[in-house]
Amino acid sequence: MGEKRATLGGRLSAVLVAAGSAVGLGNIWRFPYIAGENGGGAFLIIYIACILLLGVPVLLAEFTVGRHTHLNSVGAYRTLSKRWAFLGYNSVISSLLILGFYFVVSGWTLEYFITSLSGSISEYTHSAVNAERFAEFTTNPLRPIVCTVLFALLTHAVIALGVQKGIERSSKLMMPILFVMLIVIAARSIALPFGLEGVEFFLKPDFSKVTAKTFLDAMGQAFFSLSIGLGCMITYSSYFNDKTNLQKTAFNVIALDTLVAVLAGLAIFPAVFSADIEPTSGPSLVFVTLPSIFNTMTFGPFWSALFFLLLILAALTSTISLHEVLTAYLHEERGLSRTKAAWVVTIVTTLLACASSLSLGVWGDFKICGLNLFDSLDFVTANILLPLGGLLTSIFAGWVLDRKILRTEISDHGSMRCRLFGLLVVLLRYVCPALLLWIFLYNLGIFRF
Ligand code: PFF
Repeated sequence: MGEKRATLGGRLSAVLVAAGSAVGLGNIWRFPYIAGENGGGAFLIIYIACILLLGVPVLLAEFTVGRHTHLNSVGAYRTLSKRWAFLGYNSVISSLLILGFYFVVSGWTLEYFITSLSGSISEYTHSAVNAERFAEFTTNPLRPIVCTVLFALLTHAVIALGVQKGIERSSKLMMPILFVMLIVIAARSIALPFGLEGVEFFLKPDFSKVTAKTFLDAMGQAFFSLSIGLGCMITYSSYFNDKTNLQKTAFNVIALDTLVAVLAGLAIFPAVFSADIEPTSGPSLVFVTLPSIFNTMTFGPFWSALFFLLLILAALTSTISLHEVLTAYLHEERGLSRTKAAWVVTIVTTLLACASSLSLGVWGDFKICGLNLFDSLDFVTANILLPLGGLLTSIFAGWVLDRKILRTEISDHGSMRCRLFGLLVVLLRYVCPALLLWIFLYNLGIFRF
Protein backbone atom coordinates (compact mmCIF):
# COMPACT_ATOMS: atom_id res chain seq x y z
CA MET A 1 0.00 0.00 0.00
CA GLY A 2 2.55 2.53 1.17
CA GLU A 3 0.27 5.54 0.60
CA LYS A 4 -0.14 8.17 3.31
CA ARG A 5 -3.08 7.54 5.62
CA ALA A 6 -5.77 10.23 5.59
CA THR A 7 -6.26 12.55 8.57
CA LEU A 8 -9.15 14.85 9.27
CA GLY A 9 -8.66 18.60 9.02
CA GLY A 10 -9.17 19.76 12.58
CA ARG A 11 -11.29 19.69 15.68
CA LEU A 12 -14.51 20.78 14.00
CA SER A 13 -14.15 18.00 11.42
CA ALA A 14 -13.46 15.46 14.15
CA VAL A 15 -16.57 16.51 16.05
CA LEU A 16 -18.86 16.63 13.02
CA VAL A 17 -17.66 13.31 11.59
CA ALA A 18 -18.05 11.48 14.90
CA ALA A 19 -21.37 13.21 15.62
CA GLY A 20 -22.47 12.18 12.13
CA SER A 21 -22.02 8.56 13.07
CA ALA A 22 -23.74 9.02 16.42
CA VAL A 23 -26.73 11.00 15.18
CA GLY A 24 -28.95 8.60 13.28
CA LEU A 25 -32.29 6.86 13.12
CA GLY A 26 -31.71 5.86 16.75
CA ASN A 27 -32.00 9.49 17.87
CA ILE A 28 -35.03 10.38 15.83
CA TRP A 29 -37.40 7.48 16.16
CA ARG A 30 -36.11 5.46 19.07
CA PHE A 31 -35.09 7.95 21.72
CA PRO A 32 -38.27 10.08 21.84
CA TYR A 33 -40.51 7.07 22.20
CA ILE A 34 -38.46 5.29 24.85
CA ALA A 35 -38.25 8.54 26.78
CA GLY A 36 -41.96 9.22 26.55
CA GLU A 37 -42.81 5.68 27.68
CA ASN A 38 -40.30 5.59 30.51
CA GLY A 39 -41.23 8.66 32.48
CA GLY A 40 -40.18 11.54 30.15
CA GLY A 41 -37.85 13.89 32.00
CA ALA A 42 -37.08 11.11 34.49
CA PHE A 43 -35.78 8.98 31.62
CA LEU A 44 -33.74 11.91 30.34
CA ILE A 45 -32.04 12.24 33.73
CA ILE A 46 -31.27 8.48 33.81
CA TYR A 47 -30.11 8.58 30.20
CA ILE A 48 -27.70 11.43 30.95
CA ALA A 49 -26.39 9.50 33.97
CA CYS A 50 -25.81 6.46 31.72
CA ILE A 51 -24.01 8.64 29.22
CA LEU A 52 -21.72 9.93 31.97
CA LEU A 53 -21.10 6.52 33.55
CA LEU A 54 -20.83 4.43 30.39
CA GLY A 55 -20.83 6.64 27.33
CA VAL A 56 -17.97 8.95 28.26
CA PRO A 57 -15.51 6.23 29.42
CA VAL A 58 -16.16 3.86 26.51
CA LEU A 59 -16.10 6.67 23.95
CA LEU A 60 -12.79 7.93 25.36
CA ALA A 61 -11.43 4.36 25.37
CA GLU A 62 -12.36 3.92 21.69
CA PHE A 63 -10.86 7.31 20.81
CA THR A 64 -7.65 6.27 22.59
CA VAL A 65 -7.38 2.96 20.74
CA GLY A 66 -8.08 4.58 17.36
CA ARG A 67 -5.97 7.71 17.65
CA HIS A 68 -3.02 5.93 19.23
CA THR A 69 -2.73 3.30 16.51
CA HIS A 70 -4.10 5.20 13.49
CA LEU A 71 -5.45 1.90 12.23
CA ASN A 72 -8.76 0.16 11.47
CA SER A 73 -10.40 -1.62 14.40
CA VAL A 74 -8.80 -5.05 13.78
CA GLY A 75 -5.34 -3.58 13.16
CA ALA A 76 -5.72 -1.29 16.17
CA TYR A 77 -6.47 -4.08 18.65
CA ARG A 78 -3.88 -6.38 17.12
CA THR A 79 -1.19 -3.69 17.47
CA LEU A 80 -2.05 -3.10 21.11
CA SER A 81 -2.43 -6.77 22.04
CA LYS A 82 -2.40 -9.78 19.70
CA ARG A 83 -4.77 -11.70 21.96
CA TRP A 84 -7.37 -8.95 21.71
CA ALA A 85 -7.47 -8.77 17.91
CA PHE A 86 -10.75 -10.72 18.11
CA LEU A 87 -12.41 -7.59 19.47
CA GLY A 88 -11.64 -5.92 16.16
CA TYR A 89 -13.42 -8.76 14.38
CA ASN A 90 -16.42 -8.28 16.65
CA SER A 91 -16.52 -4.74 15.33
CA VAL A 92 -16.31 -5.85 11.70
CA ILE A 93 -19.04 -8.45 12.12
CA SER A 94 -21.33 -6.08 14.05
CA SER A 95 -20.99 -3.36 11.42
CA LEU A 96 -21.82 -5.82 8.66
CA LEU A 97 -24.89 -7.11 10.49
CA ILE A 98 -26.15 -3.65 11.47
CA LEU A 99 -25.90 -2.49 7.87
CA GLY A 100 -27.97 -5.56 6.96
CA PHE A 101 -31.07 -3.93 8.49
CA TYR A 102 -30.06 -0.26 8.75
CA PHE A 103 -29.84 0.01 4.94
CA VAL A 104 -33.38 -1.35 4.66
CA VAL A 105 -34.90 1.22 7.04
CA SER A 106 -32.81 3.95 5.44
CA GLY A 107 -34.27 2.88 2.09
CA TRP A 108 -37.78 3.37 3.51
CA THR A 109 -36.92 6.99 4.37
CA LEU A 110 -35.98 7.50 0.73
CA GLU A 111 -39.34 6.09 -0.43
CA TYR A 112 -41.30 8.33 1.95
CA PHE A 113 -39.25 11.34 0.93
CA ILE A 114 -40.08 10.70 -2.73
CA THR A 115 -43.76 10.13 -1.86
CA SER A 116 -43.76 13.46 0.00
CA LEU A 117 -42.09 15.31 -2.86
CA SER A 118 -44.54 13.92 -5.41
CA GLY A 119 -47.40 15.14 -3.23
CA SER A 120 -49.01 11.69 -2.96
CA ILE A 121 -48.32 11.73 0.78
CA SER A 122 -51.51 13.79 0.97
CA GLU A 123 -53.42 10.52 0.50
CA TYR A 124 -51.97 9.24 3.81
CA THR A 125 -54.68 10.74 5.95
CA HIS A 126 -55.61 7.97 8.39
CA SER A 127 -53.35 5.85 10.52
CA ALA A 128 -55.21 2.67 9.56
CA VAL A 129 -54.78 3.36 5.84
CA ASN A 130 -51.17 4.39 6.40
CA ALA A 131 -50.45 1.19 8.30
CA GLU A 132 -51.87 -0.84 5.43
CA ARG A 133 -49.78 1.06 2.90
CA PHE A 134 -46.67 0.74 5.02
CA ALA A 135 -47.18 -3.02 5.34
CA GLU A 136 -47.86 -3.29 1.61
CA PHE A 137 -44.70 -1.36 0.81
CA THR A 138 -42.33 -3.13 3.22
CA THR A 139 -43.51 -6.60 2.22
CA ASN A 140 -43.34 -5.84 -1.51
CA PRO A 141 -40.54 -7.87 -3.13
CA LEU A 142 -39.29 -5.09 -5.39
CA ARG A 143 -39.78 -1.49 -4.31
CA PRO A 144 -38.07 -1.53 -0.90
CA ILE A 145 -35.17 -3.36 -2.49
CA VAL A 146 -34.75 -0.65 -5.11
CA CYS A 147 -34.72 1.93 -2.28
CA THR A 148 -32.23 -0.13 -0.26
CA VAL A 149 -29.89 -0.45 -3.24
CA LEU A 150 -30.18 3.29 -3.95
CA PHE A 151 -29.33 4.11 -0.35
CA ALA A 152 -26.37 1.73 -0.38
CA LEU A 153 -25.10 3.37 -3.59
CA LEU A 154 -25.48 6.81 -2.00
CA THR A 155 -23.35 5.61 0.93
CA HIS A 156 -20.88 4.06 -1.49
CA ALA A 157 -20.52 7.32 -3.42
CA VAL A 158 -19.40 9.14 -0.27
CA ILE A 159 -17.01 6.37 0.79
CA ALA A 160 -15.55 6.16 -2.72
CA LEU A 161 -14.59 9.85 -2.53
CA GLY A 162 -12.32 9.00 0.40
CA VAL A 163 -11.97 10.09 4.00
CA GLN A 164 -11.35 13.78 3.41
CA LYS A 165 -13.32 14.49 0.27
CA GLY A 166 -16.11 12.08 1.07
CA ILE A 167 -16.65 11.53 4.78
CA GLU A 168 -15.26 14.80 6.13
CA ARG A 169 -16.84 17.08 3.54
CA SER A 170 -20.22 15.37 3.61
CA SER A 171 -20.41 15.52 7.41
CA LYS A 172 -19.47 19.19 7.42
CA LEU A 173 -22.24 19.85 4.94
CA MET A 174 -24.95 17.50 6.21
CA MET A 175 -24.69 17.94 9.97
CA PRO A 176 -25.41 21.70 10.07
CA ILE A 177 -28.30 21.25 7.59
CA LEU A 178 -29.69 18.48 9.77
CA PHE A 179 -29.60 20.74 12.82
CA VAL A 180 -31.29 23.66 11.16
CA MET A 181 -34.01 21.41 9.74
CA LEU A 182 -34.63 19.78 13.08
CA ILE A 183 -34.92 23.13 14.85
CA VAL A 184 -37.37 24.42 12.21
CA ILE A 185 -39.53 21.28 12.47
CA ALA A 186 -39.47 21.34 16.29
CA ALA A 187 -40.49 25.02 16.34
CA ARG A 188 -43.34 24.33 13.90
CA SER A 189 -44.48 21.35 15.92
CA ILE A 190 -44.46 23.11 19.31
CA ALA A 191 -46.47 25.98 17.82
CA LEU A 192 -49.33 23.61 16.86
CA PRO A 193 -52.50 23.67 19.00
CA PHE A 194 -51.98 21.43 22.07
CA GLY A 195 -48.31 21.15 21.12
CA LEU A 196 -47.25 22.01 24.65
CA GLU A 197 -49.06 18.91 25.93
CA GLY A 198 -46.65 16.87 23.83
CA VAL A 199 -43.72 18.74 25.32
CA GLU A 200 -45.08 17.92 28.76
CA PHE A 201 -45.52 14.22 27.95
CA PHE A 202 -41.96 14.09 26.65
CA LEU A 203 -40.14 16.12 29.29
CA LYS A 204 -42.10 16.15 32.54
CA PRO A 205 -40.36 13.77 34.95
CA ASP A 206 -42.61 10.96 36.06
CA PHE A 207 -40.59 8.75 38.38
CA SER A 208 -43.51 6.36 38.90
CA LYS A 209 -42.79 4.91 35.45
CA VAL A 210 -39.14 4.16 36.27
CA THR A 211 -38.32 0.45 36.70
CA ALA A 212 -35.15 -1.65 36.40
CA LYS A 213 -35.97 -1.99 32.71
CA THR A 214 -35.81 1.81 32.35
CA PHE A 215 -32.15 1.71 33.33
CA LEU A 216 -31.45 -1.08 30.87
CA ASP A 217 -33.27 0.73 28.07
CA ALA A 218 -31.32 3.89 28.85
CA MET A 219 -27.99 2.07 28.79
CA GLY A 220 -28.78 0.23 25.57
CA GLN A 221 -29.97 3.43 23.93
CA ALA A 222 -26.83 5.30 25.07
CA PHE A 223 -24.64 2.69 23.39
CA PHE A 224 -26.54 2.47 20.14
CA SER A 225 -26.96 6.21 19.92
CA LEU A 226 -23.29 7.03 20.51
CA SER A 227 -22.19 4.29 18.05
CA ILE A 228 -19.93 2.79 20.69
CA GLY A 229 -19.13 -0.84 21.39
CA LEU A 230 -18.47 -1.78 17.79
CA GLY A 231 -15.33 0.01 16.79
CA CYS A 232 -16.97 2.70 14.70
CA MET A 233 -15.44 5.40 16.84
CA ILE A 234 -12.08 3.57 16.75
CA THR A 235 -12.10 3.73 12.97
CA TYR A 236 -13.10 7.40 12.89
CA SER A 237 -10.68 8.49 15.60
CA SER A 238 -7.88 6.71 13.73
CA TYR A 239 -8.20 9.61 11.28
CA PHE A 240 -7.97 12.28 14.01
CA ASN A 241 -4.72 14.21 13.95
CA ASP A 242 -2.48 14.34 17.00
CA LYS A 243 -3.69 17.82 17.89
CA THR A 244 -7.34 16.80 18.15
CA ASN A 245 -8.44 17.31 21.73
CA LEU A 246 -10.02 13.99 22.66
CA GLN A 247 -11.78 15.16 25.82
CA LYS A 248 -13.45 18.12 24.14
CA THR A 249 -14.30 16.09 21.05
CA ALA A 250 -15.97 13.41 23.18
CA PHE A 251 -17.88 16.05 25.14
CA ASN A 252 -19.09 17.80 21.97
CA VAL A 253 -20.14 14.57 20.27
CA ILE A 254 -22.12 13.51 23.31
CA ALA A 255 -23.71 16.94 23.69
CA LEU A 256 -24.72 17.08 20.01
CA ASP A 257 -26.08 13.54 20.01
CA THR A 258 -28.19 14.17 23.11
CA LEU A 259 -29.37 17.52 21.80
CA VAL A 260 -30.56 15.93 18.56
CA ALA A 261 -32.42 13.23 20.51
CA VAL A 262 -34.17 15.86 22.65
CA LEU A 263 -34.97 18.05 19.64
CA ALA A 264 -36.38 15.01 17.85
CA GLY A 265 -38.74 14.47 20.79
CA LEU A 266 -39.73 18.13 20.63
CA ALA A 267 -40.42 17.75 16.92
CA ILE A 268 -42.46 14.58 17.22
CA PHE A 269 -44.55 14.65 20.42
CA PRO A 270 -46.19 18.06 20.10
CA ALA A 271 -47.36 17.04 16.61
CA VAL A 272 -48.63 13.70 17.89
CA PHE A 273 -50.57 15.35 20.71
CA SER A 274 -51.88 18.08 18.51
CA ALA A 275 -53.44 15.42 16.25
CA ASP A 276 -54.79 13.63 19.35
CA ILE A 277 -53.11 10.35 18.41
CA GLU A 278 -51.73 7.73 20.81
CA PRO A 279 -47.94 7.86 20.61
CA THR A 280 -46.63 4.61 19.11
CA SER A 281 -43.15 3.28 18.67
CA GLY A 282 -40.43 2.86 16.06
CA PRO A 283 -41.34 2.38 12.43
CA SER A 284 -45.04 2.85 13.00
CA LEU A 285 -44.50 6.22 14.66
CA VAL A 286 -42.44 7.54 11.79
CA PHE A 287 -44.04 5.89 8.78
CA VAL A 288 -47.63 5.45 9.93
CA THR A 289 -48.54 8.11 12.48
CA LEU A 290 -46.50 11.07 11.28
CA PRO A 291 -47.72 11.17 7.65
CA SER A 292 -51.33 11.65 8.78
CA ILE A 293 -50.19 14.40 11.14
CA PHE A 294 -48.34 16.21 8.37
CA ASN A 295 -51.55 16.11 6.40
CA THR A 296 -53.35 18.13 9.02
CA MET A 297 -50.82 20.95 8.57
CA THR A 298 -50.82 23.69 5.96
CA PHE A 299 -48.17 22.78 3.36
CA GLY A 300 -48.27 19.19 4.68
CA PRO A 301 -46.21 17.59 1.87
CA PHE A 302 -43.52 20.25 2.39
CA TRP A 303 -43.16 19.43 6.11
CA SER A 304 -43.29 15.77 5.37
CA ALA A 305 -40.55 16.05 2.72
CA LEU A 306 -38.43 18.12 5.12
CA PHE A 307 -38.83 15.52 7.87
CA PHE A 308 -37.94 12.55 5.67
CA LEU A 309 -34.99 14.44 4.21
CA LEU A 310 -33.84 14.93 7.80
CA LEU A 311 -34.11 11.19 8.37
CA ILE A 312 -32.18 10.49 5.16
CA LEU A 313 -29.31 12.73 6.26
CA ALA A 314 -29.25 11.28 9.76
CA ALA A 315 -29.28 7.72 8.41
CA LEU A 316 -26.69 8.47 5.73
CA THR A 317 -24.06 9.86 8.09
CA SER A 318 -24.48 6.67 10.16
CA THR A 319 -24.36 4.20 7.26
CA ILE A 320 -21.21 5.95 6.02
CA SER A 321 -19.52 5.30 9.37
CA LEU A 322 -20.53 1.62 9.41
CA HIS A 323 -19.36 1.20 5.82
CA GLU A 324 -16.03 2.84 6.67
CA VAL A 325 -15.34 0.31 9.46
CA LEU A 326 -15.54 -2.46 6.86
CA THR A 327 -13.80 -0.62 4.04
CA ALA A 328 -10.86 0.41 6.24
CA TYR A 329 -10.54 -3.20 7.46
CA LEU A 330 -10.48 -4.72 3.95
CA HIS A 331 -8.15 -2.03 2.67
CA GLU A 332 -5.62 -2.07 5.48
CA GLU A 333 -5.77 -5.67 6.68
CA ARG A 334 -6.63 -7.57 3.52
CA GLY A 335 -4.60 -5.48 1.10
CA LEU A 336 -7.48 -4.56 -1.25
CA SER A 337 -7.29 -1.17 -2.91
CA ARG A 338 -9.70 1.29 -1.26
CA THR A 339 -11.87 1.34 -4.35
CA LYS A 340 -12.12 -2.44 -4.47
CA ALA A 341 -12.65 -2.66 -0.71
CA ALA A 342 -15.52 -0.17 -0.91
CA TRP A 343 -17.19 -2.14 -3.72
CA VAL A 344 -16.86 -5.45 -1.89
CA VAL A 345 -18.46 -3.89 1.20
CA THR A 346 -21.26 -2.29 -0.80
CA ILE A 347 -22.07 -5.50 -2.67
CA VAL A 348 -21.98 -7.80 0.37
CA THR A 349 -23.95 -5.48 2.67
CA THR A 350 -26.49 -4.73 -0.06
CA LEU A 351 -27.09 -8.43 -0.67
CA LEU A 352 -27.58 -9.00 3.04
CA ALA A 353 -29.89 -5.98 3.27
CA CYS A 354 -31.93 -7.22 0.27
CA ALA A 355 -32.32 -10.61 1.94
CA SER A 356 -33.42 -8.95 5.17
CA SER A 357 -35.90 -6.77 3.29
CA LEU A 358 -37.34 -9.87 1.59
CA SER A 359 -37.60 -11.54 5.00
CA LEU A 360 -40.34 -9.02 5.83
CA GLY A 361 -42.42 -10.40 2.97
CA VAL A 362 -41.88 -13.31 0.60
CA TRP A 363 -39.06 -14.88 2.62
CA GLY A 364 -40.93 -14.42 5.88
CA ASP A 365 -41.16 -18.16 6.52
CA PHE A 366 -37.43 -18.47 6.91
CA LYS A 367 -36.86 -17.99 10.64
CA ILE A 368 -33.79 -17.96 12.87
CA CYS A 369 -34.78 -18.85 16.45
CA GLY A 370 -38.32 -17.73 15.67
CA LEU A 371 -37.32 -14.37 14.16
CA ASN A 372 -37.15 -13.38 10.51
CA LEU A 373 -33.76 -12.27 9.17
CA PHE A 374 -34.48 -8.54 9.59
CA ASP A 375 -35.50 -8.90 13.24
CA SER A 376 -32.71 -11.32 14.05
CA LEU A 377 -30.07 -8.91 12.69
CA ASP A 378 -31.57 -6.18 14.86
CA PHE A 379 -31.78 -8.46 17.90
CA VAL A 380 -28.30 -9.95 17.65
CA THR A 381 -26.57 -6.61 17.20
CA ALA A 382 -28.51 -4.47 19.68
CA ASN A 383 -28.88 -7.10 22.39
CA ILE A 384 -25.75 -9.20 22.11
CA LEU A 385 -22.91 -7.80 20.02
CA LEU A 386 -23.08 -4.15 21.10
CA PRO A 387 -23.20 -4.73 24.89
CA LEU A 388 -20.62 -7.49 24.53
CA GLY A 389 -18.38 -5.18 22.48
CA GLY A 390 -18.79 -2.42 25.08
CA LEU A 391 -18.08 -4.83 27.93
CA LEU A 392 -14.89 -6.12 26.32
CA THR A 393 -13.79 -2.62 25.26
CA SER A 394 -14.02 -1.36 28.83
CA ILE A 395 -12.21 -4.44 30.18
CA PHE A 396 -9.51 -3.97 27.56
CA ALA A 397 -9.06 -0.27 28.27
CA GLY A 398 -9.27 -0.70 32.05
CA TRP A 399 -7.20 -3.84 32.57
CA VAL A 400 -5.10 -4.63 29.50
CA LEU A 401 -4.15 -1.36 27.83
CA ASP A 402 -0.97 0.25 29.12
CA ARG A 403 -2.11 3.03 31.49
CA LYS A 404 0.50 5.34 29.96
CA ILE A 405 -1.10 5.08 26.54
CA LEU A 406 -4.50 5.93 27.98
CA ARG A 407 -3.11 8.91 29.84
CA THR A 408 -1.03 10.16 26.90
CA GLU A 409 -3.97 10.08 24.52
CA ILE A 410 -6.57 11.49 26.91
CA SER A 411 -4.24 14.31 27.88
CA ASP A 412 -3.24 14.88 24.22
CA HIS A 413 0.41 14.17 24.99
CA GLY A 414 0.33 16.09 28.22
CA SER A 415 -1.07 19.31 26.74
CA MET A 416 -4.45 18.89 28.44
CA ARG A 417 -5.04 18.41 32.13
CA CYS A 418 -7.09 15.39 33.03
CA ARG A 419 -8.05 15.78 36.64
CA LEU A 420 -10.62 13.03 36.49
CA PHE A 421 -8.24 10.42 35.09
CA GLY A 422 -8.43 8.29 38.24
CA LEU A 423 -12.21 8.31 38.04
CA LEU A 424 -12.09 7.33 34.37
CA VAL A 425 -9.94 4.31 35.22
CA VAL A 426 -12.32 3.23 38.00
CA LEU A 427 -15.28 3.54 35.62
CA LEU A 428 -13.51 1.52 32.93
CA ARG A 429 -12.29 -1.16 35.33
CA TYR A 430 -15.33 -1.75 37.50
CA VAL A 431 -18.43 0.28 36.76
CA CYS A 432 -18.71 -0.19 32.99
CA PRO A 433 -17.95 -3.94 32.98
CA ALA A 434 -20.44 -4.57 35.79
CA LEU A 435 -23.26 -2.57 34.19
CA LEU A 436 -22.60 -3.93 30.72
CA LEU A 437 -22.49 -7.48 31.97
CA TRP A 438 -25.87 -6.86 33.54
CA ILE A 439 -27.34 -5.58 30.23
CA PHE A 440 -25.78 -8.46 28.33
CA LEU A 441 -27.12 -11.17 30.63
CA TYR A 442 -30.50 -9.48 30.91
CA ASN A 443 -30.86 -9.31 27.14
CA LEU A 444 -30.04 -12.98 26.90
CA GLY A 445 -32.81 -13.63 29.42
CA ILE A 446 -30.36 -14.96 32.01
CA PHE A 447 -30.44 -12.30 34.70
CA ARG A 448 -33.94 -10.95 35.15
CA PHE A 449 -35.69 -9.75 38.23
N1 PFF B 1 -25.73 5.80 16.25
C1 PFF B 1 -26.60 5.45 15.16
C2 PFF B 1 -28.03 5.87 15.50
O1 PFF B 1 -28.27 6.42 16.58
O2 PFF B 1 -28.90 5.65 14.66
C3 PFF B 1 -26.58 3.99 14.83
C4 PFF B 1 -25.22 3.40 14.74
C5 PFF B 1 -24.31 3.87 13.80
C6 PFF B 1 -24.85 2.43 15.64
C7 PFF B 1 -23.02 3.38 13.77
C8 PFF B 1 -23.57 1.94 15.62
C9 PFF B 1 -22.68 2.41 14.69
F1 PFF B 1 -21.46 1.94 14.67
